[in-house]
Amino acid sequence: MLPRLNFSMCAYLVTVLICLSSKLTSSQLIINVKNQGGDVVQENISANVTDDTVTLEFQRSDGTLVTQLIDFRNEVQVIKALILGEEERGQSQYQVVCFLFHFPKDSFISSDAMSKLRQKNPSAIRIPEQDLVRDNYTMDYHVSLQHSGVFSPHIADLCAEAKESTYVRHEDLTFWSINQGIPVTTFLKALIKLPRTKYRSTKKDVEDKPKANVETCTGSKVMWSPCYCHLEICIGWYPCSLKYCKGKGQTKNSYVTYRCGIKTCRKCHLFTYYVEEKEQCMWDE
Ligand SMILES: *[C@@H]1O[C@H](CO)[C@@H](O)[C@H](O)[C@H]1NC(C)=O
Ligand SMILES: *[C@@H]1O[C@H](CO)[C@@H](O)[C@H](O)[C@H]1NC(C)=O
Ligand SMILES: *[C@@H]1O[C@H](CO)[C@@H](O)[C@H](O)[C@H]1NC(C)=O
Repeated sequence: MLPRLNFSMCAYLVTVLICLSSKLTSSQLIINVKNQGGDVVQENISANVTDDTVTLEFQRSDGTLVTQLIDFRNEVQVIKALILGEEERGQSQYQVVCFLFHFPKDSFISSDAMSKLRQKNPSAIRIPEQDLVRDNYTMDYHVSLQHSGVFSPHIADLCAEAKESTYVRHEDLTFWSINQGIPVTTFLKALIKLPRTKYRSTKKDVEDKPKANVETCTGSKVMWSPCYCHLEICIGWYPCSLKYCKGKGQTKNSYVTYRCGIKTCRKCHLFTYYVEEKEQCMWDE
């Protein structure tokens, strides 16, 4: 066990921008992040230790509101995007999409560590230390929200506005199946196979790859036909791991290791998913 950093040590660590406090107070962190275009975006990050979740939220310069939820207990990560309609095209409505995918352990600090993060200079503009490789996700199923509890109890609320547009990949089902010790078929009851026609999946369908006869929206000329849309969501700054420091121990020549800060990362996700009409994907040109 590593010793916990106490509050006085936290105040003493003037060289780290962010330190871990053992004081338990309400834990929302507001971070100013410089994005790749040079704009400053405000990120809100909060942790719920009881639920073992972390929520990160920000609004992109184009107005898209992004929410990332990590459910550590179920190894589920959700990225929700609320995308504003394009007024020039007469779209006054917004649309909401939700993507569920497996959360690899240790790719974000724990909810407990997150709840203890404090920043010395809240107005500082931050840049992540490492830009991680982009991941591609091609979504295989629609998730039916009333059964989404098999993945995580938080999805039904978070994605309430994405009833027809909550997606999951087949390959992630295996991870969750092992993690939760339940068969993949239990998850399939909450899913609707894509694309083309929305029909309930049978065992045979599961083995099928998505049919490749639906074009990407980029190539599609027909406004009212289904296509595969691309949406890139980048999390501009997040604490991806803890840093450890060595300090003098109680006796001569002994050392202790303690948590003395965080490593920060940026990561982009490219989602490819089925839409009923190209109109739901007008940015993809
Ligand atoms: C954490 O989640 C629990 C259970 O959902 C809720 O009762 C509590 O208010 C939440 N705490 C915070 C700080 O949001
Ligand atoms: C972040 O939190 C602040 C203060 O609680 C709030 O005013 C703002 O709307 C939040 N922003 C987002 C994108 O959630
Ligand atoms: C992800 O998709 C992009 C665009 O489709 C492609 O250029 C890139 O090579 C893909 N990356 C991986 C790791 O598959």
